[in-house]
Amino acid sequence: MLLSALAILSSITALYVWYKLTRRSPFDHIPGPPSKSFLLGNLGELMQAQVGSTDFAWQETYGDVVKFKAAFGIDRFLISDPKALHHILQTSGYRWGKYRERVELSRLMSGKGLTYAEGNAHKRQRKIMLPGFGSSEAGNFLPLFFSCAASMSRRWSDILSFSENQSHVFNLPEWISRASLDAIGQAAFDYNFGATANHETELGKVYQNMLTKAFAAPSNSTLLTMELLQFLPRSLLEFLDDLSPSPRLAAIRRAGEVANALAEELVSTKANALLKGEGQKDIMSLLVKANASESPKSRLTHTELISTMRVIIFAGFDTTSNTLAFLLYELARNPELQHNLRAEIRAAEKEASSRGESQITISDLKGMYLLEATIKETLRYHPVAPHILRTAKEDDILPISAITTTTGQVLTELPIPRGTRVILSIPAYNRNKKIFGDDAHMFNPYRWLELNHVVKNDVSLGPFANLATFSGGIRSCLGWRFAIIELQAFVVELLSKFEFHPTAQIEHIRREAAFAMVPTVEGELDKGSQLPLRVTFA
Ligand code: HEM
Ligand SMILES: *[C@@H]1O[C@H](CO)[C@@H](O)[C@H](O)[C@H]1NC(C)=O
Ligand SMILES: *[C@@H]1O[C@H](CO)[C@@H](O)[C@H](O)[C@H]1NC(C)=O
Ligand SMILES: *[C@@H]1O[C@H](CO)[C@@H](O)[C@H](O)[C@H]1NC(C)=O
Repeated sequence: MLLSALAILSSITALYVWYKLTRRSPFDHIPGPPSKSFLLGNLGELMQAQVGSTDFAWQETYGDVVKFKAAFGIDRFLISDPKALHHILQTSGYRWGKYRERVELSRLMSGKGLTYAEGNAHKRQRKIMLPGFGSSEAGNFLPLFFSCAASMSRRWSDILSFSENQSHVFNLPEWISRASLDAIGQAAFDYNFGATANHETELGKVYQNMLTKAFAAPSNSTLLTMELLQFLPRSLLEFLDDLSPSPRLAAIRRAGEVANALAEELVSTKANALLKGEGQKDIMSLLVKANASESPKSRLTHTELISTMRVIIFAGFDTTSNTLAFLLYELARNPELQHNLRAEIRAAEKEASSRGESQITISDLKGMYLLEATIKETLRYHPVAPHILRTAKEDDILPISAITTTTGQVLTELPIPRGTRVILSIPAYNRNKKIFGDDAHMFNPYRWLELNHVVKNDVSLGPFANLATFSGGIRSCLGWRFAIIELQAFVVELLSKFEFHPTAQIEHIRREAAFAMVPTVEGELDKGSQLPLRVTFA
């Protein structure tokens, strides 16, 4: 406590001096909202509201490049402009990096691996992992994802069969996140976490609600502390994160420790066998072989190996499971869509079984257009990683589609001084009317099936469907193909067996900003992530 206070005091002083010295703004005429306070600027509006709500309001009023005030009157930008996003995420290479205090948090969550590394170290690690994430690798996991979905649906069937009128309210995140954890464990590491079968597994328990505990509803003082951290040296940051008694940080550390122990155990029991298997492209084999590599260019250190496993667990399960929860939520609210989608699934299952297949195959999935459209629309409308944070590490010229300054000038580029921080708004980009149509704020999967409803972007962004949901460029999501196939498998299995109905609470679902987006019920944040739907047999 004393340490934090000292650190904060000294940084305020340093900050003030720094602020006085560097106060020069090339941004004076860029439009944006008036600041609410000197200490926090507009950060409260942006970080304490539901995901996207402030982003959408600003986008509507000020456009796709919005200047706002972060703490202490410093300018920051909220960006949803395709050209600017493309430049920052892709063309600029490593000239735009993550916020340093966030990199530190990432260390706490998953160690010094892929999400921690920058520059050449990041490039090397990514190159090692890439072969494990191709489309045939992901496609091979379809039967596995079906079987994870089936274990969950068997448990649901049991519960329904024993319930009085064959109907039961399931809190989706609780179930899906465990099923998704099992799916990622088996796909990436050939290891069964057993989280669906046994709700008491340690990893399942510490990860359950970790994000909500650690990041949801940041208070003013949490926001201020986060802002102050950017001025501290790395070593001090590391020290504070490791020792801070804050319950938020403690929840992350705890999850980190459990995941670390598990990764170490997995590696030590499997490494020998994996080293013997020639030419295997599964993720775990790639990692272990890279650790044994002679060449420094293709070598992964032991620390990198372990933390990369943690990155995959962490990046891979909550994201996919919250996306699925929001997809089912939309289906519960749109019975007709749910009905049509089920009809498409039943038809495909019939087709597969007439060929003598017990399950839908990858090639069947390619013809399931409504399924694909519904998944695209969910990823567009409910992007579970809402904000990507970047700092300019060098002076730069940012290309933008066009903004009109408050003095009436039209700009197509913006000079950016080194150190400038931006927030890339995925929800706002994903509802850019120029790309997705005037009805961008409506959930409508059919837009993807209508000619010219979604227009081709002048720059293409992200690996999938021109969406920013998986980020883009050099740090884009590695696991997006896994995510999509997993989503397809779960939707097929669940819709073919069950029908989803609204509950009274779903009128009060919040898109909670907790680092990632998690569904919660208004006024019940203490219960963690919640999305209760009534389920019956279909
Ligand atoms: C719907 C599901 C998913 C969404 C929306 C999603 C989204 C994202 C986003 C936005 C990033 C960039 C984060 C940043 O730069 O700050 C990212 C990175 C990453 N994702 Fe995903 N992800 C999903 C599922 C997965 C899955 C299933 C895996 C693994 C099997 C995975 C593995 C990764 C990895 C390894 C990175 C780090 C890449 C790097 O730093 O180079 N993701 N993801
Ligand atoms: C029976 O099902 C209906 C909706 O299908 C639900 O409203 C009701 O509460 C259920 N009753 C019991 C006892 O579960
Ligand atoms: C947080 O700060 C804002 C000003 O930025 C203020 O309007 C609000 O009342 C504060 N909230 C609390 C709980 O103090
Ligand atoms: C990774 O390499 C280091 C150093 O060569 C070695 O000590 C460690 O056991 C290796 N880890 C695995 C899982 O093979």
